[in-house]
Amino acid sequence: MSGTKQQPDLSTALGGVKPANPVMTASGTCGYAFELGDFVDLSRLGAFVTKSITLEPREGNKPQRTVETAAGMLNAIGLANIGLKRFCAETLPLLRQMNMPIFVNVAGRTQEDYLKVCERLAAEDGLAGLELNVSCPNVKEGGITFGTDPQVLGRLVAAVREVIGSMPLMVKLTPNVTDITVTARAAVDAGADVLSLVNTFTGMAIDAETRRCVLGNRTGGLSGPAIKPIALYMVHRVYTEVARSNGIALVGMGGIACATDALEFILAGASAVAVGTAVLARPAVLTEIIDGVAVYLQRHGYSRLQDIVGSLEA
Ligand SMILES: Cc1cc2nc3c(=O)[nH]c(=O)nc-3n(C[C@H](O)[C@H](O)[C@H](O)COP(=O)(O)O)c2cc1C
Repeated sequence: MSGTKQQPDLSTALGGVKPANPVMTASGTCGYAFELGDFVDLSRLGAFVTKSITLEPREGNKPQRTVETAAGMLNAIGLANIGLKRFCAETLPLLRQMNMPIFVNVAGRTQEDYLKVCERLAAEDGLAGLELNVSCPNVKEGGITFGTDPQVLGRLVAAVREVIGSMPLMVKLTPNVTDITVTARAAVDAGADVLSLVNTFTGMAIDAETRRCVLGNRTGGLSGPAIKPIALYMVHRVYTEVARSNGIALVGMGGIACATDALEFILAGASAVAVGTAVLARPAVLTEIIDGVAVYLQRHGYSRLQDIVGSLEA
């Protein structure tokens, strides 16, 4: 018997934010959104995450800034961006017109930098929330990356929470740690509403002929399919050991390039997924993933996406 199956409910929950579906952009891979407008119907996305914004404009690292690797890429963009002032004046008014939740990703070199940017953004209308990029060196504490030390991370998140009040706060974890559940717990204890993971893995590429590093910055961040199994493992560990018991939603990312990849992260415990490197090659992958997730739910007889979040069999 053939019958029309009802469209499944793809909506999800990220703290107080309720995206219509679980597919988001990964920070830094989709600019400020307009860059993608000609290639994909952005209004279909669950949420948009901007590239990192810093207090002052940044030129970023010297070239070469990206290099292809086996099953992925390394990037060392160096947080090139237009800075808070121009972002608020020029970009925010356009982002506000988009019919979807917008998260602004914030980066900084000192805790004070983060606080100034977050406080200003919290005073702006029309934003769903903030995502803290904590994969940045803290210049005041000997260059240690904010997100690798649970104490430094906890202090930062607690201070940001204080200046933004009840605005939804997502903390983006770095995978460059021994045990990601330790930093996940520190972020949650300090007031994160949502955790997103993972950022890129530090790596390098060498040109044997010239005996030089390929990237101008020497090191860069590895992303794409090569990192997917590790990212999936980290999402599942954070879900089972930290997020589930604390009622914290996760945004999973790392190498997602099709609906099946996205579903693996959702089964592992992610309430939403973000797609980065795959969008650089083919922006339409974003809407294909939304459609593919709906087809999977129908095929497996589920009416709601939320019923499969974290439903990996033991
Ligand atoms: C070119 C490029 C630029 C990125 N820029 C940022 C950034 O500005 N802020 C940030 O938090 N993450 C940034 N990321 C990391 C991604 O948001 C994402 O965490 C990572 O690439 C893993 O997902 P993927 O494998 O789908 O790309 C960047 C990644 C790439 C490839």
